[in-house]
Amino acid sequence: MDVAAPTLTAEKRMARRADPCTFVIFGAAGDLTKRLLMPALYNLAASGRLPDAFCIVGVARTKMPADAFRQEMRAALEQFATERIAPDLLDGLIGRCRYVGGDFDDPSTYEELKHELADVAHTLGTRDNCLFYLATPPGVFAHIARLLGEAGLANEQDGCWRRLIVEKPFGVDLQSARALNKELLDVFAENQIYRIDHYLGKETVQNIMVLRFANGMFEPIWNRRYIDHVQITVAETVTVEKRGKLYDHTGALRDMVPNHLFQLLALTAMEPPSCFVAEDVRAEKLKAIEAIQPLSRARIANNVVRGQYTAGQINGKAVPAYRDAPNVAPQSTTETYVAMRLKIDNWRWAGVPFYLRTGKALGVRKTEIAIKFHSAPLALFRDMPVESLTQNLLVLRIQPDEGAALHFNAKIPGPEVQIENVRMNFKYGDYFEAAPKTGYETLIYDSMIGDPMLFQRAADIEAGWRVVDPILDAWQEPDARGLCSYPAGSSGPQAAEALLAQSGQQWRAIT
Ligand code: BG6
Repeated sequence: MDVAAPTLTAEKRMARRADPCTFVIFGAAGDLTKRLLMPALYNLAASGRLPDAFCIVGVARTKMPADAFRQEMRAALEQFATERIAPDLLDGLIGRCRYVGGDFDDPSTYEELKHELADVAHTLGTRDNCLFYLATPPGVFAHIARLLGEAGLANEQDGCWRRLIVEKPFGVDLQSARALNKELLDVFAENQIYRIDHYLGKETVQNIMVLRFANGMFEPIWNRRYIDHVQITVAETVTVEKRGKLYDHTGALRDMVPNHLFQLLALTAMEPPSCFVAEDVRAEKLKAIEAIQPLSRARIANNVVRGQYTAGQINGKAVPAYRDAPNVAPQSTTETYVAMRLKIDNWRWAGVPFYLRTGKALGVRKTEIAIKFHSAPLALFRDMPVESLTQNLLVLRIQPDEGAALHFNAKIPGPEVQIENVRMNFKYGDYFEAAPKTGYETLIYDSMIGDPMLFQRAADIEAGWRVVDPILDAWQEPDARGLCSYPAGSSGPQAAEALLAQSGQQWRAIT
């Protein structure tokens, strides 16, 4: 089933209040629910964005009375809320929590859920509208969808809606992502499925389109004629921490590239959509990903670098090597860093390299997109004490220190013509008062009002894997280019420098 999502215009969106609904969380005892979903729901309640008729139903394996679940959610909010808690609001939200305990692969869990939902619709007036949020390990996504279907809970009848929100990881390669898409689409229609990439919940990520398309000055120069190359960096200081068991089978490429980094790339490279609505925006982003030149086996060795961190220091604190982390194989060859050079084969970008890198245990936490423009010709200044001109640079800082900066050359005051690189800097905090958020508020709200713009369709997910799959395959080959090491707290492996050095460029510093 592949039904186009209904178009929601910006006007309708602004005017739209979320319909009465029930928010069902599978995996309600997990970390995601406690750290992010409940605080996000609280923030939505605090900003008046939850419908009056609203209910949360937690589903988890442990059998316990609803009161015990409410206690857990209260404790979670007290610990993880991003805002000061107002007792009335907290009581109101907790009072709307219900609970169903049972195995996710047991049909009776779904029968019980069905009764609970019918009761909620009747007593609270949620009109049978339901969001099923899969905050579970990915291995059970398809089972839950199938059993929801078998219990008749995916049916939209008598004017109600049923939506499924799926967390990442969405598959581990193209084949598994296709299989999962198929299994979900056997039960839910495409327009009922909301595949989350939490990067799209970040204000600064959403702002990329506004910066590009709501300003007259950027779009005319946003192409190969003016841009030398683009650097997209997602550098993390966090290590693998306690996620070794999962991460050792995932690695940095799968964990970050087809999803978060490709979202940043798509927003940077896409053509302007004809309208700021889900269908148009997602179609343009998909075209950008589909235009990435596939990397052949031969080119992977020279265009992709992978690394793994060894022991080092981050912010003065000793960090053990990745291989010494809990639940990581002592001889693990899983990459905790990846850098690559991609080309986008279309009229706007032909010949402009897009450099992507991401890694754990690096010296600084920083996500940014840096657009480097071509050099001005030096000839004009050749008889002056100017040896070179720095290339103009536009840096979109996604996190932390959200903002944007334009770097350009200016004359140093004095009788001689001497030039220095200077920076115009915009900081979000200087203009906007934004309370700290979880990043899930907009995503949850959008799924409630039925705006799929910030969610991925089956085709978007598969397009990302199509680019990454050949790299995963190449790394399986016995003659694959080896894994480089880098000390924790550094800016990554030396080999990554070579990717840019070949064209006389260098990465922006991440130390
Ligand atoms: C997750 C990855 O999707 O994104 C993690 O699985 C990573 O490994 C995280 O740490 C990064 O998200 P953020 O919002 O902290 O940049």
